[in-house]
Amino acid sequence: MPVITFANTKGGAGKTTAALILATELARNGARVTILDADPQHWISHWHDISGKVANVEVISYVTMASIQGHISENRAKTDYFIIDLAGARNTLMATAIGLSDHVMIPIQGCAMDAKGGAQVLELLGYLEDKAGIRINHSVVLTRVNSLVTTRALQMVKQLLAERSVPVLDTPIIERAAFRDIFDCGGTLQTMDPNRVSNLDKACENARAFGDEVRRLVPLRLTRSMRRAA
Ligand SMILES: Nc1ncnc2c1ncn2[C@@H]1O[C@H](COP(=O)(O)OP(=O)(O)O)[C@@H](O)[C@H]1O
Ligand SMILES: [Mg+2]
Repeated sequence: MPVITFANTKGGAGKTTAALILATELARNGARVTILDADPQHWISHWHDISGKVANVEVISYVTMASIQGHISENRAKTDYFIIDLAGARNTLMATAIGLSDHVMIPIQGCAMDAKGGAQVLELLGYLEDKAGIRINHSVVLTRVNSLVTTRALQMVKQLLAERSVPVLDTPIIERAAFRDIFDCGGTLQTMDPNRVSNLDKACENARAFGDEVRRLVPLRLTRSMRRAA
């Protein structure tokens, strides 16, 4: 039951959006997902309130330093993936969540402030590895990428980060109306109206590629069918 945390100490980097896209995509694919909404702004809890029941998705709304570990152990048996959405702040809850994670996703939008917020997360991960010998897998996710940005330009950004030994996901999250509107409409990309949301098909395709890449990177240790057989 892998724990995936979205962290960037800067608000607006695209953490919450990427976390929800991933959660709904893993759920669509049949995984049972529990989202720990550790952001005091509660965007994902609000999404869940207006969505009604979404198959395979549970949301836990009040997550604190004191409660986070308990939420994970209590829900372990009924969860395939935990996804933690953090506030854009550098605090002990962030450090605790990172310490509990199998993989940390660091959304970066490409602006300098975001990169700085991302660098602070990478610094903490480096510190944990150097001082405590704890290595936590992590990846930068490029977010809100303009759909007109060329593959070549993206490739250059990825190469720059790779030269600094920062792992970057192949799939960027593109700036799409659907990824913004889902918080107002509730539900999933699949329940949105393609006549009212532009490029919904492209958003679905992007979400699918993102989910596929994350599943390859952070596989379920034991699939449910394997557990049943055991
Ligand atoms: N891929 C995207 N496409 C369109 N809008 C996005 C995308 N990612 C983020 N946004 C918008 O940018 C703003 C900040 O994103 P959010 O996910 O809330 O960031 P964070 O959680 O890091 O503060 C929100 O208004 C959100 O709707
Ligand atoms: Mg957020």
